[in-house]
Amino acid sequence: MIVRYEVFDEDYIPEEILFRDEQIRRIAFNLKPAEYGSRPVSMLCLGPPATGKTTVMRYILGKAGENLKGIYINCQVHQTKQQIFFKIFESLYGYIPPPGISFQKLYSSILKKGVEGKEIFFVVLDDLNLLSEKLVNEVIYLLLKGHEEIGGFKAGIAGVSTDTNLSGLLNSKTLSVFHPDEILFPVYDFEEMLEILDRRAREGLVGGRVNREALEMIAEKAFEYLDLRFGIHLLKMAVLNAEKKGKDTVGADDVEEVAESSRDVFFRKMLSSLSRDEVDVLIHIYTSRSRFTGDLYREMGRKMGYTKFFEILRKLENLRFIDTAVKYEKGLKRYVLRRFRADEILDAVEKYLK
Ligand SMILES: Nc1ncnc2c1ncn2[C@@H]1O[C@H](COP(=O)(O)OP(=O)(O)OP(=O)(O)O)[C@@H](O)[C@H]1O
Ligand SMILES: [Mg+2]
Repeated sequence: MIVRYEVFDEDYIPEEILFRDEQIRRIAFNLKPAEYGSRPVSMLCLGPPATGKTTVMRYILGKAGENLKGIYINCQVHQTKQQIFFKIFESLYGYIPPPGISFQKLYSSILKKGVEGKEIFFVVLDDLNLLSEKLVNEVIYLLLKGHEEIGGFKAGIAGVSTDTNLSGLLNSKTLSVFHPDEILFPVYDFEEMLEILDRRAREGLVGGRVNREALEMIAEKAFEYLDLRFGIHLLKMAVLNAEKKGKDTVGADDVEEVAESSRDVFFRKMLSSLSRDEVDVLIHIYTSRSRFTGDLYREMGRKMGYTKFFEILRKLENLRFIDTAVKYEKGLKRYVLRRFRADEILDAVEKYLK
């Protein structure tokens, strides 16, 4: 069996993106005006982790037509206004801007490039929910208001976010220029995960295969966490495990042997983006019997301000450690739902902090 390792990498774009035809069609439709020299419709692509948002955007950028200049920004990497516009500059000019350049200069060089090249920009802001509310508004506004600075400048934006309520963060100034078409990326169901994993296995293995039992086992675990990314990671580890033993068929035993360590990797990665305060709140949620946010806050003592506590909850929700919802009980109250078994999370935290 020959393993095409790259097929199991995080950033691999599959030969075929399954179950996302509707989203792809809508994005393409929104970009259509660019073919006629007009500004594309801006969008927000919203959905939980591992629902194909990044994959679809990168696929679309790879196909962007001639007069559309696709620019991809990962806000996890580029977290300040300066960094974001540096990255845009670099995508356009092919080199990093000179040191000490003023923001105004940087900004107008970007706008000028678009106008001179008669290009319409399509800026994908991936993981936009990781920026502060203020920055989200500022970046969108600057990009869409470019034509007031330099006539003839045209741009469309696609903001990608796991926070499905991102538009709730937009202020009236931003809303005056940004009327996004909201495109939803729902979580895959079990059958869809199974199908995607099956296709991936076929793509990645030459002269070998993953048997049905093993595939179903992987899909079940991915579905338990509602996370296809975990499934693909587990698939990769099982394949490598079988390869090590010189086998041509990946079986359930190969999956079982790597399941626990793969799960640890999965949790460690999620935990690595949390600060100590955030880990403390997470531990508290998974040990306390209380569910209402007000009670949870009180129980934690006065270690942090109320605002900070709620920011942490939002982050934990974005990273899918928890869900939150509201309920009417002597007034509207917000409560927290755990997404994982408490013993699994607490065990993972313990290993992580060691
Ligand atoms: N429809 C699909 N067909 C094939 N593979 C997919 C599909 N959707 C997602 N994947 C795979 O699942 C993994 C996660 O997808 P992706 O990175 O696009 O998710 P995302 O929605 O951007 O998640 P996040 O919000 O965490 O960034 C990738 O390995 C990707 O190849
Ligand atoms: Mg993504």
